[in-house]
Amino acid sequence: MYFIANWKMYGDLKSLNSLNKVIKFTNTNKRKKIKLIYCPPYTLLQAFYKKIKKTRIFLGAQNCHYEISSGPFTGSISPQMLKRIGSSYVIIGHSENRSEGETDSQINKKIKSCIESGLKVIFCIGESSLQRGKKLTQKVLKKQILKGLLKVRFSNNILLAYEPIWSIGTGNVPKNYELNKNINFIKQILKNKHKMKNPKVLYGGSVNPKNVKNLASIEGIDGFLVGGASQNAKNFIDIVKKTII
Ligand code: PGA
Repeated sequence: MYFIANWKMYGDLKSLNSLNKVIKFTNTNKRKKIKLIYCPPYTLLQAFYKKIKKTRIFLGAQNCHYEISSGPFTGSISPQMLKRIGSSYVIIGHSENRSEGETDSQINKKIKSCIESGLKVIFCIGESSLQRGKKLTQKVLKKQILKGLLKVRFSNNILLAYEPIWSIGTGNVPKNYELNKNINFIKQILKNKHKMKNPKVLYGGSVNPKNVKNLASIEGIDGFLVGGASQNAKNFIDIVKKTII
């Protein structure tokens, strides 16, 4: 099971202290098949890496530019830069970036550059509440996957994160049958169109220590992308514990 902490635009150097608890937790649960990945803001990546490099926690970034190495792109960070400071993962296509104008074609370029740089991609997809209301969910998901992964090789370096936009930060999560249906649908596309043998699909959107046990019981879910609840070490550890115990 994967557990990804997406800190969004929160956190300062002091927040790194909360990691001590999480490191201790991973050290005492060595035999459990869990993978913890922290995605703090860019400003904390280097300090984070120093802290976790000898632990079982992995580092990820929350976005990057599609240009692989460097160039005249003010305010941007390239995949190679992320790789060089110790990141192993990058979140791409988060709805908070899509809503700022990030397109499927930019997402596709970013995914290709990340993979070429040796980074693993956490590729986010999800429908809006309007689309869901019009019963367009599967059409939207299919389009996002096909466009995002167009001509992408080595797709085993990609984790899909299904995040319905209406569930992010709202406290609302899909019903079990709906989530199970959409996760299976995503896996079928990845198997049929992208020849992934064993695709990994995570769920994200208002995951917390209270609802995670039920969510984890849904067949097909390979982990969670956690926003708000991941900023508190105790909550994040509780989410992991309730999933694996
Ligand atoms: P949330 O965010 O857990 O706060 O809903 C999830 C995400 O945006 O990845």
